[in-house]
Amino acid sequence: MAREINVGPASAVPEGESLVVPKETTGTKDHIGVFHGEDGEFYAIDNTCSHQDYALSEGFVEGACVECPLHGASFDLRTGEALTLPATTPVGTHAVEVRDGDLWLTVQDDA
Ligand code: FES
Repeated sequence: MAREINVGPASAVPEGESLVVPKETTGTKDHIGVFHGEDGEFYAIDNTCSHQDYALSEGFVEGACVECPLHGASFDLRTGEALTLPATTPVGTHAVEVRDGDLWLTVQDDA
């Protein structure tokens, strides 16, 4: 079942920045990183790099992509696709939208 979680004001996450919603809050397998892309859009992906388990929220946002700071793999924030080596496996994506100035994350209970 889908659930919506208010993760705070969108203004708290400037372009190029992110916040982490802990899995204890989301009930998902992984923490979720909510990113503000340089294209002005918000995105939510599983926060753990599929290469060697580093926090993607520590990475560098470029356009609608994030680069893992550990070995430089790049992920598409829109699709979760791994765009560059050494990562080859995508990360999961989640729906996030801005309503009345707040960020609302949608998670599946069994995700
Ligand atoms: S842990 Fe992310 S690229 Fe290696």
